[in-house]
Amino acid sequence: MFASLLLAAAVAAAPNAKSSAPQLREDNIPEVVAAMTPEEKCALLIGGRSKAFNGIGHTDVGVPGAAGTVNSIPRLGIPSIILADGPAGLRINPTREGDSRTFYCTGFPVGTMLSSTWNPELVEEAGRCIGNEVLEYGVDILLAPGANIHRNPLCGRNFEYYSEDPLLSGTTAAAYISGIQSNGVGTSIKHFALNNQELNRLANDALVSERAMREIYLRNFEIAIRKGKPWTIMTSYNYINGEHASESRRILTDILRGEWGFDGTVMTDWGGGYDTPAQIHAGNDMVQPGQDWRYNELLAAVRDGSLPMEDLDNSVTRVLELIVKCPKFRGYEPSNAPDLAAHAKVCKQVADEGVVLLKNKGEMLPVPAEKKVALFGVTSYSFIAGGTGSGNVNRPYVVDLKEGLVNAGYTLDAGVDAFYSEYMADEAERCARITGKNPWFIDEERAIEVVPEDVIAQASGDADVAFVTIGRVFGEGKDRDYWHSYLLSRDEVRLLEKVSEAFHAKGKKMAVILNIGGLVEMHSWKNLADAILICWQPGQEGGNTVASVLSGEVNPSGRLPMTASKSYDREPSAGNFPLINADKPFNYSFYRQLKDRRPHVVKDIDYTLYEEDIYVGYRHFCTFDRKGVEYPFGYGLSYTTFAWSKMKVAAAEGGWTVKVKVTNKGKVAGKDVVQLYVKAPRRGLPKPERELRAYAKTPLLAPGESCEVEMFVPAEYLASYDADASAWVTEKGRYTFIAARNAADKGLRRGIRVKSSKK
Ligand code: BGC
Repeated sequence: MFASLLLAAAVAAAPNAKSSAPQLREDNIPEVVAAMTPEEKCALLIGGRSKAFNGIGHTDVGVPGAAGTVNSIPRLGIPSIILADGPAGLRINPTREGDSRTFYCTGFPVGTMLSSTWNPELVEEAGRCIGNEVLEYGVDILLAPGANIHRNPLCGRNFEYYSEDPLLSGTTAAAYISGIQSNGVGTSIKHFALNNQELNRLANDALVSERAMREIYLRNFEIAIRKGKPWTIMTSYNYINGEHASESRRILTDILRGEWGFDGTVMTDWGGGYDTPAQIHAGNDMVQPGQDWRYNELLAAVRDGSLPMEDLDNSVTRVLELIVKCPKFRGYEPSNAPDLAAHAKVCKQVADEGVVLLKNKGEMLPVPAEKKVALFGVTSYSFIAGGTGSGNVNRPYVVDLKEGLVNAGYTLDAGVDAFYSEYMADEAERCARITGKNPWFIDEERAIEVVPEDVIAQASGDADVAFVTIGRVFGEGKDRDYWHSYLLSRDEVRLLEKVSEAFHAKGKKMAVILNIGGLVEMHSWKNLADAILICWQPGQEGGNTVASVLSGEVNPSGRLPMTASKSYDREPSAGNFPLINADKPFNYSFYRQLKDRRPHVVKDIDYTLYEEDIYVGYRHFCTFDRKGVEYPFGYGLSYTTFAWSKMKVAAAEGGWTVKVKVTNKGKVAGKDVVQLYVKAPRRGLPKPERELRAYAKTPLLAPGESCEVEMFVPAEYLASYDADASAWVTEKGRYTFIAARNAADKGLRRGIRVKSSKK
């Protein structure tokens, strides 16, 4: 309201001002800034009002269902630009009052599945499609990608994020950003930084060493920002070593802009931080969404001089620099009719490459489409395309596994199908009664798993094979419940046991499909299954993707972007992460409001110790606990086998090139992934056993075909951060380059000698 009153007053008070006031152009920003009143400047930096703001962005201005806006200033020709959520696609309302058209957006695979492809070109292609929908639906900035590190498997937003490894995360994010921005629209990489838990996310303090921050939690952002050049960055809700992320001048100005050369705009997460002038002083240019107290606080600080005008002007300049790049400023007329059919094809293609095959005993898979399938698990009939919260997408449809299998030509066992048709209809009614009443941060009610013993017994005689899907959905606002989300439920385990027992007794096999946004415990039940594949949350074409992999039409080539440990207690951060159980209140993310923030009272809630330091994911397991791994980082099977040879390492401008020859030795075409780890000499700073420094995916290789993959390792990737010296230090000595199939694979090795350096 303040903004519209203010602007109305400004325009009305100066009838002649409009003709004399400069009108915003790309080349007159300093002139426009000089002509702005302090009120106009503050109105520009405090976002437009978000209707009924309750923690998740929502506006009805411009594009209904977008997350927010930047206020317009008509007197100076400054238009309002529109910001909307991602990352698995554009989140806007699918319908509009009084309009018969629909505004659905393609539901792409979640972030974790994009990184599982280990194929940045493909991720970029997904980005190109999403960015086209952003443009054609009239949005200027997509609030994505989400790039926080997978520190712990229970983080409720891991599905939006990419990996436990900063290189895989950073390069995937860069590709996504390039794809989106190729449309002339912007991105906002988020949540910068260390937003690794949802519980008490507005007030939690991440206590982390400088080295871990530089090498892990900032590194992925650094790679993404340097390579992808996002137009904007969204700061996170949490504190970092006692300072709010959005108020840290050191991180936002010294490191982000000074060291990394970022020249774009920084905005808060929705409602993040509390000291608005401190945010602007730090270099957090825009505060979202519009709230009166923010505006008043900022204007007061400008008036009393406690916030230098120079700080305000720097931020205003950066917001204007952003605006002049946007479609809205260019006068682009959105068609509201992107080619959803073409994007659905890309969506499937991307998902096809992100499926990770973990187990395939006796080459159970692929199963020819002529076979009769007994399809179990409620999730098979109600596939999960993506996660919840702001990362949700209003997609036109979701292909479930039943539909996917039928599309692929499989025959379904009629008895099983009839049972689930009836059961799922009853459950749908029950769920609808509950779901409609829940606030956004509570997961939708899902069908309860069922163990139809008679149906299983019958089907083990009638069908050729059993497929069982286990599903998990979660999202923004709370972390996962260890007992109910990470572990399989008693009924899920019983279902696996009963199906496995019945089918194995008849000499038939069972495959398990994990339709999940993050890992579940697998050690205790994996022996029941002949095959296990993870299809993550694969987007709207999910059932078609899984059917293609099961039938062999697609040869799986995804690799795990995180380590699957044997049990949760072996996770390096297990002792320093909130364990949620169902007895706690639901409103986890607002566990403490800012006003009653208690900095260091309750461990894992008020503050979180990053005691594992740089030893996140495989860095920990490879160095200290090899036996704790169920499936290593980078793991994934194929229906063919590949032989690697002729590894060559050569010094090149600014680093080393590494080449490996890959030959398809099997009977079907497939793609392979070469992962290049480096083992550093153990001299001064402690080092993980190995670290990923490059990777490459082959093209589709026909049986017998070979190719040579080439990777580049920049010299600076060998450095570690020495906090005492405040510098990146490469210690001299012998470095082992390891071309491996995953973090636990011995791989091909070459040693090189490196001189010491410091930067
Ligand atoms: C989320 C952001 C999102 C924003 C706008 C916040 O609650 O943390 O990821 O972009 O809302 O909807």
